[in-house]
Amino acid sequence: MTIDKKYIDQIIKVSSKAAYASSLLVGKNDKIAADKAAVDAMRRELNMLDMNGKVVIGEGELDEAPMLYIGEILGTKKGPDFDIAVDPVEGTNFAAKNLPGALSVIAIAEKGNLFHAPETYMDKIAANINQTNVIDLDFNTRTNLDNLAQYKNKNIEDLVVCILDRPRHKKIINEIHNSGAKTKLITDGDVAGALLVTKEDFNVDLFLGIGGGPEGVLAASALDTFCCFFQGRFIFDNYEDKKRAKNMGINDLEKKYSLNEIVSGDSIFCATGITSGDLVNGISVNGNTFISETLVTHKKSNFKKNISKTYDI
Ligand code: FBP
Repeated sequence: MTIDKKYIDQIIKVSSKAAYASSLLVGKNDKIAADKAAVDAMRRELNMLDMNGKVVIGEGELDEAPMLYIGEILGTKKGPDFDIAVDPVEGTNFAAKNLPGALSVIAIAEKGNLFHAPETYMDKIAANINQTNVIDLDFNTRTNLDNLAQYKNKNIEDLVVCILDRPRHKKIINEIHNSGAKTKLITDGDVAGALLVTKEDFNVDLFLGIGGGPEGVLAASALDTFCCFFQGRFIFDNYEDKKRAKNMGINDLEKKYSLNEIVSGDSIFCATGITSGDLVNGISVNGNTFISETLVTHKKSNFKKNISKTYDI
C-alpha cells in the first residue's frame, strides 16, 4: 500500500498552520505558549483530514498531555489508517528567543510502520551513505571518521560533524577535534541537525550524539526518502524509563535500531520553518496571507523538496 499523494498537500498545510500559529509567539520568551499554539493548530488541522490517524509520537502520555497525546485518534475516521509522529515546535528555545531554526514537524506512515518511541534520549548516528558497516553506533569516533573519510574519498580534516553542544558530548567532541575533523555545534534542534547530512550544500558529513528519541524517529522518516544511513539506540537510564519501555513492548533495552526498524513502508515528512534556519525559511506575512516554506519528503514517489505555500490568515 502507498499513501495517496493528495496527503502531501494536506500534511504541508498541517505543519504550515502550526508554524504560523507558533510564529505569532516568536520572541516572547514563552516556549510553552509557542508550543501550545502549534499543538492546537496542528490538532485542529489533523482532525479535518480523511484518515484514521493514531499519534505514536506526540506531546506525551495521556496523563501529561491533553492534546496530541500518544494514542490519540485523529481525523474524520473516513480514510486510511495512519501512524502519526508530531513535534509541533522542534526547537522551543529558538521560537521563544527568536533565534534561527524553529520548525513544526510531522511525519505520517502506514499503520504499524512508525516506531512508537518512548520519551527518552536516543544515541543517534546519520550520514549520506547507503552502505552498512561504514559508520556504526558501536564503532568508536575515530573509526567512524576514518571509514567515512575513506568512503567519501575525503581527508579526515575535511569532514564536518554536526552534534548537539552539550556537556555529555565533551569526550566525543574532543575526539572529533583530535582527529583533525571539524564540528558544527548546534545548541538545539537535532531533527534539522540530522537532516544536514542530506545535501552537500549543508557541508555536514556526519551527525552524531544523544538527543531526543522522538526527534530521532522524525529525522529517520525523512532520511529514509533521502536514502541516508541512520541508527538509533534508546537510553533507558532510570527505573521509570525502563518500566515504560517494557510496557511499550521493548524487551531488549540495549537494542540498536536500523532506519527501517524505525520507519518502513510509505511515509510523508514535513518540516515547516517557524523562524528561518539552515533547512527552510520561517513564516512571513504578506497582508492577509502568510507564506510558509516546508521541507517535504514522500517515500514512495521519491519526492524530496522545499515547497513554499501561501495561505489566508
Ligand atoms: P524542544 O523543542 O522540545 O525544546 O527540543 C529541542 C531539542 O534540542 C531537540 O532537538 C533535541 O533532540 C533535544 O532538545 C535535546 O535535549 P536536551 O536539551 O535535553 O539535550
